[in-house]
Amino acid sequence: MAKYERKDFFYVKAKQMGYSARSVFKIEEIDKSFSLIKPKSKILDLGCSPGSWIQYIEKKLTPLNRYVLGIDLVPLKIKLGINIHFIQGDIFEIAIPSETFDLVISDMAPKTSGIKSIDQVKSLYLCERALEIAQKTLKKNGNFCIKILEGGGFHEFVKTCRKSFENVKIKRPKSTRPGSMETFIIALGLK
Ligand SMILES: C[S@@+](CC[C@H](N)C(=O)[O-])C[C@H]1O[C@@H](n2cnc3c(N)ncnc32)[C@H](O)[C@@H]1O
Repeated sequence: MAKYERKDFFYVKAKQMGYSARSVFKIEEIDKSFSLIKPKSKILDLGCSPGSWIQYIEKKLTPLNRYVLGIDLVPLKIKLGINIHFIQGDIFEIAIPSETFDLVISDMAPKTSGIKSIDQVKSLYLCERALEIAQKTLKKNGNFCIKILEGGGFHEFVKTCRKSFENVKIKRPKSTRPGSMETFIIALGLK
C-alpha cells in the first residue's frame, strides 16, 4: 500500500504559493486539459472549503463580469473577492440555487470512515446530488466536473452522466494522492 505523506510535494507547493489547499493543483490540471474556466464564466463550486479552487478561479475570471457561488458545510478560510459568494450549508438541505451557471464543479468528499464500501456509497450519494444540482442549474452546453471514488456505482454514474452530456471524460490528476481511489469525471456540454 502507498505510504500516506500529509505534507507531500503538492502540500508544500500550495503553502508556498498561498493556496488554502493542495486540491488547487487538481482543478488547475483539469482546467488546462479541458479549458473549463473562461474569463466571464459563472461557476458553482460545491464543497468549496477551505477555498483553493475559488482562489484559482478568481485569478482566471474578470472581476466585474464573473459570478462564483461556493457552497460547503464548513466556512471558507479565504477572503471573498468581488462577485464571489458563499453559502454555508449541506447540499442535501439547502435550496438548489435559482441562478444558472456555465460550469458546476464539485470536489466534495464525505467524512471518511476508513471502510472502503461505506465511503464509496457516501461519495456516490454526494455525486448524485451534485449531478441533480448541475442538471437544474447549468445552462445548455454547460460543463460539469466532479470528484468521485472509483468503485461500486462508478461506471453506472458515468453512464448516467453520458445521458445528459455530449462528451464525458475521466481524469486522475497527477496531484491525486498515491493509493487514493478518487478520480474526476468531466462532463462537457449539457444536452
Ligand atoms: C476536499 S474538500 C474541498 C476542497 C476545495 N475544493 C478547495 O479547493 O479548498 C471537500 C469538502 O466537501 C465538503 N462537503 C462534504 N459533504 C458536503 C455536503 N453534504 N454539503 C456541502 N459540502 C460538503 C466538506 O465540508 C469539505 O470542505
